[in-house]
Amino acid sequence: MRGVTDAGIGSDYGCAAPDGTSRWWDLRVDATPSGATDRKAAPMTFDPIQYKNTTRAQWETAAQAWHRWGPVLEQWLGEATERMLDLADVGSGSRVLDVAAGAGGQSLAAARRSGPTGRVMATDISPSILTYAAKAAGDAGVSVETVELDGEELERLPGVSFDAVICRLGLIYFPNQPRALSGMGHALRDGGRAAAVVYSTSERNAFFSLPVRIIRDRVGLGPPAPGQPGPFSLGGPGVLLSQFEQAGFRDVTVEEVPAPLRLASAADCVRFERESFGALHQMLATVPPERHPAVWAEIEDALGRFESAEGFLGPCELLVVGATK
Ligand SMILES: C[S@@+](CC[C@H](N)C(=O)[O-])C[C@H]1O[C@@H](n2cnc3c(N)ncnc32)[C@H](O)[C@@H]1O
Repeated sequence: MRGVTDAGIGSDYGCAAPDGTSRWWDLRVDATPSGATDRKAAPMTFDPIQYKNTTRAQWETAAQAWHRWGPVLEQWLGEATERMLDLADVGSGSRVLDVAAGAGGQSLAAARRSGPTGRVMATDISPSILTYAAKAAGDAGVSVETVELDGEELERLPGVSFDAVICRLGLIYFPNQPRALSGMGHALRDGGRAAAVVYSTSERNAFFSLPVRIIRDRVGLGPPAPGQPGPFSLGGPGVLLSQFEQAGFRDVTVEEVPAPLRLASAADCVRFERESFGALHQMLATVPPERHPAVWAEIEDALGRFESAEGFLGPCELLVVGATK
């Protein structure tokens, strides 16, 4: 765990193995040479350390773009974010832990609610993306402490020290979600609230699942196995609720929040995902670069079905969960 700003709660945390090649989309595929569309699907051992290293590297690379697309993100995720903060009971004076905080959009929203007597700690596995969160907080005149920390290592924080834990579009990418939920319980005081935003099913999130499917088809890869991380890993009926209940939370509720992605055109959506969705970029890394333009053109063509005279409206549905320790 390493404080990116002056966190004062420890030092020297990082991932172990230097090599990271296992990704959520190729967990069921053999290790034949990359780029081919004829790779045969076969079980492959999931290595969470490699996976984590790759995830961290993805977000180190995508950090600047995720920050740059911040206004689009906040408009797209705004309603779900406010609902998450409501369900986490974030108000004046709240001590809030933000897990997988990214460039800090929801951290700033929490800091505005908790005010000068509150405290917001934004944590993430990617130190680069946290620098944008720290800068954004400074620019907005709110106080957000940033700490580099794996969301599956929350027990490294002092126990019973937060009133609320929030996590927006982060838990889905964790290989050991039960451990992360248990860590949230560790950090919360008794009666404290946890809340998170995740994608629902691939069918209801075509703005993302269409590009994923097209790239997967081009690369010849199968979907992640059940229980493995990925954008829709918590979206199935009852999955999110049962994960929180199994982690010992009570009063668990899950709400569906429509969150259509509004942009000027399908081309803009491709630019948004191409630049800032680290997972898609990394998937394409196994395709020879000269084939990338054709793949992105195919994605743009497919997303064109969501374009009209009013612009682009990408289908997206989020789930917002709230629970009590
Ligand atoms: C889709 S972004 C969401 C960022 C931010 N919460 C938001 O909604 O704008 C996913 C974030 O999860 C972080 N992340 C992925 N795996 C993580 C882990 N094991 N521990 C902590 N953060 C992680 C990434 O670094 C990235 O910042």
